[in-house]
Amino acid sequence: MTWMEPETFEILYGESGWFKEEGDEIIILAIESSCDETSAAVVGDGLNVLSNVVASQIDLHKKYGGVVPEIASRKHLELINPVISEALQQAGVEFSDLDAVAATYGPGLVGSLLVGLTAAKTLAFALQIPFIGINHIVGHIYANFISNKEIQPPVLCLTVSGGHTDLLYFQELGSYQLLGSTRDDAAGEAFDKVARVLGLGYPGGPAIERISQEGNPEAIDFPRPFIDENNYDFSFSGLKTAVLNYLNTEKQRQAEINVADVAASFQQAVIDVLTSKVLRAVENYPVQSVILSGGVSANRTLRDHLARSLEEYQLPLYTPELELCTDNAAMIGAVAYYKYLKRDFSPLTLAARANLKL
Ligand code: KG4
Ligand code: ZN
Repeated sequence: MTWMEPETFEILYGESGWFKEEGDEIIILAIESSCDETSAAVVGDGLNVLSNVVASQIDLHKKYGGVVPEIASRKHLELINPVISEALQQAGVEFSDLDAVAATYGPGLVGSLLVGLTAAKTLAFALQIPFIGINHIVGHIYANFISNKEIQPPVLCLTVSGGHTDLLYFQELGSYQLLGSTRDDAAGEAFDKVARVLGLGYPGGPAIERISQEGNPEAIDFPRPFIDENNYDFSFSGLKTAVLNYLNTEKQRQAEINVADVAASFQQAVIDVLTSKVLRAVENYPVQSVILSGGVSANRTLRDHLARSLEEYQLPLYTPELELCTDNAAMIGAVAYYKYLKRDFSPLTLAARANLKL
């Protein structure tokens, strides 16, 4: 056992430790608090979501146009215990039924992460059960395995959230190769920033998608950064600047701005870049299916466009159910289950890591 000092291990679990095996009923309490959602879930046998409580702080942060870290961590403190109690109650389990406690330890806002992480470590220590630290981005990927239990590797995965845009290749589940990432802004971040300048509020993604339905995606020819580059990297900061420049020029000309057209044209530019990189990877790697994860995967226009493009390659596109696309603790519980089976537990000294990478 390398995950904990031998003395601590012995105090907690006896000399050898005893853990459940695959096939036993393994019940994990998972906690997610990396940004502005306080969430706790009870997950049985990895992919069976018994409860998934999400307390969103979106309304609190809306008036500031984005998440205010100090307010977020204070709110997490208020919500964490009631959310955990609610998750246990909805699942119909007691603390004594739990086999492990898991929590996101990065990436995210450090003050927010600390709340969920400390709650999880404290509970694990008090209940004398293993604690498992989870990478938030891996959680988003595993949300797909909850929703689509039939997914088989090799799999290509596009993760698009407020903080990340990553293209990953899984030869088998559990080991992956990072093919490319964003060089600057994440896709969700671009949605949020453009929504802000268009006066659509926060969070920007859903607002842009909504108004885009009334706009023409071909109205304005925004750039498609990196689309022709022979790599799997992304860049969205230039696209955001192009939208800003367009708005300024139109204002100077005193022309009327059609917000729906701007939103739809911007959204289409993001979708075209994301789709082209996925297709490039599909042509160069043996792939059985493609999965889309992260907050931006809630975007129906992106889902439909990507699914249609993949039809030509006879590849299915998997996406999580809508409530599993954005931040939630069930996805953290799914990763924790596979770590539990491998006895890949974490020390109680595990620190929150704001910039944790894949
Ligand atoms: O995964 P997530 O909930 O949090 C992070 O880990 O970042 O993703 C949040 C991001 C935000 O930028 C939000 O604007 C974006 O996901 N998002 C969307 C949609 N719903 C959420 N972007 C585009 N279209 C949507 N429907
Ligand atoms: Zn997220």
